[in-house]
Amino acid sequence: MSTRTDHPNRRLLAVLGASALLLLAGCERPPMQTTQQGFRGTAMQNTENPRIVAAQRAAVPAVPDDTPAPPPVGPKASDIYKNVPLLGDLSVADFNRHMAAITAWVAPPAEGCNYCHVGENFADDGKYQKVIARKMIEMTRAVNGGWKTHVADTGVTCYTCHRGQPVPANVWFKPETPLRNTQSILGNDFGQNRVLQTAGLTSLPYDPYSAYLLGDQNVKVYGKQALPQGIGNGASILHTEQTYALMMHFSKSLGVNCTFCHNSQSFQQWVSPKKVTAWHGIRMERDLNVAHMVPLTDTFPASRKGPTGDVAKVYCATCHQGVNKPLGGLQMARNYAGLQPVALAAAAALPAPLVEPTRTVLYFGVGSSDLAAEQSRGLDTAVTALAAGRARVVLVSGYHSAAGQLAANRELAKQRAVAVRDALVAAGAPAARVQLDKPQQTEANVAGEDPSARRVEVTLR
Ligand code: HEC
Ligand code: HEC
Ligand code: HEC
Ligand code: HEC
Repeated sequence: MSTRTDHPNRRLLAVLGASALLLLAGCERPPMQTTQQGFRGTAMQNTENPRIVAAQRAAVPAVPDDTPAPPPVGPKASDIYKNVPLLGDLSVADFNRHMAAITAWVAPPAEGCNYCHVGENFADDGKYQKVIARKMIEMTRAVNGGWKTHVADTGVTCYTCHRGQPVPANVWFKPETPLRNTQSILGNDFGQNRVLQTAGLTSLPYDPYSAYLLGDQNVKVYGKQALPQGIGNGASILHTEQTYALMMHFSKSLGVNCTFCHNSQSFQQWVSPKKVTAWHGIRMERDLNVAHMVPLTDTFPASRKGPTGDVAKVYCATCHQGVNKPLGGLQMARNYAGLQPVALAAAAALPAPLVEPTRTVLYFGVGSSDLAAEQSRGLDTAVTALAAGRARVVLVSGYHSAAGQLAANRELAKQRAVAVRDALVAAGAPAARVQLDKPQQTEANVAGEDPSARRVEVTLR
């Protein structure tokens, strides 16, 4: 009598059993942890695997020294050092502490101070790393001062993005393949159907970032009409697909489900404060990329640039790195006065706005599209002229210098013009009578030090 197990049915059962185990191996072992994000019954739970979350937390590298600032006594750095336009107001002790921290945050350990400095001459600006580091201090200040709507009092330091590496682990470049592949026999694929991690390996567009995090395309899926209306800046299938690709990035970067920010019954609703924070995050990234990263394109060596020669850019993962609050919400920035915004001396140094009967000229800081309050006061004449019918329309045109990259300059000039248009509308000018004109380059201002190269002109017609 044979009790052997190779009966065909048994074999089938064994195969089935093994495949069931294989299938289950793709699942996560319970128990899961569910946190309520919204009102009961709104399906706004965040479901997490506590073991994966614990592993994620453990993977956050040990934070380098985060000691409180020394009392501001003794000589100032600018009393002793020659070339310290940004950190000169710190005490010498605090200045040295900042240098030590920056070294731990971004420099490769083997290079230390020499990663940015040339030998013993610390005042020398010969290395591109030092030039960029100075711009990075400005960018970090811009985040901590201008984007409290997103980073609150937690703020960021160089470590938030760099984590001890010269190049942050998560940055994005424009993809190599042109999006508008109209030469191909298959026509325009709108960037779809290319296996890419960032789009969750789906057939969604693989470059949703350029449109939203560099350009000012609006996230828009829900339309007001029954059918999609073209591919402009309104709701369309193209925009829907781009939105979903971007949303995958949000979820992945923060290590959360869609319901962390949404009630999935209607993605359009604003039920969670987290969605508001994320909304400001999109705007913050545009600002960081357009006003800070892109202008550095010529400063970076070719080896650091992307396949199309663009500079590395910031997205949600650059700071978040898989957790909903970068570094678990650790408040490091408050201990570093040098990374906090200073009363922008540059803005105060701008000339007063020039107000003529049919023309108003407003000035901007270097690389900035923020309209200073004193400048916006110059708009009164234009607003009154429109209200009194003395002008039919006003033309708003941004000017930029001939220094740096043309595309970045144009974008900056455009952002400045947009800031002025918004200020005009906010002051009561009818939006339909405020027209944006093309950005223009001014003649011979190579270094951009002349404020007239950073102006917006408002002309009454
Ligand atoms: C990531 C780049 C970077 C690293 C690394 C770095 N520094 Fe600096 N250092 C700078 C920048 C940027 C300035 C100019 C600050 C300013 O504009 O106010 C500066 C300025 C200085 C100055 C002032 C020199 C002068 O006379 O003007 C000294 C001194 C200095 N650093 C020392 C150090 C020491 C010591 C280390 C290593 C512990 C170090 N730095 C590491 C970027 C760096
Ligand atoms: C919001 C994120 C972010 C913050 C905050 C930040 N950086 Fe960067 N940094 C970047 C990105 C993105 C790059 C471009 C990466 C590359 O080099 O390709 C970069 C590049 C650099 C480089 C050039 C690296 C190289 O070798 O090419 C230096 C130096 C640098 N950062 C210093 C700093 C310092 C110093 C601070 C803090 C004062 C700082 N960064 C804060 C995002 C950030
Ligand atoms: C970290 C927060 C956050 C996460 C996580 C998130 N979203 Fe969003 N989502 C937003 C914000 C903010 C907007 C609105 C952006 C705007 O108006 O500029 C938005 C907009 C949308 C829209 C467009 C709604 C409209 O008004 O047209 C859809 C659809 C959407 N999200 C789907 C998703 C899906 C699907 C996921 C999960 C894969 C997800 N979101 C994850 C923050 C988030
Ligand atoms: C410059 C770094 C930086 C970038 C880039 C960034 N964030 Fe944040 N984010 C932070 C910091 C810091 C906090 C913590 C603020 C706090 O403590 O309340 C935060 C908080 C949040 C929160 C609130 C989390 C909570 O638990 O309350 C959301 C949601 C969020 N970020 C979404 C995003 C999205 C979406 C993007 C990309 C569009 C993004 N962030 C890009 C730095 C950043």
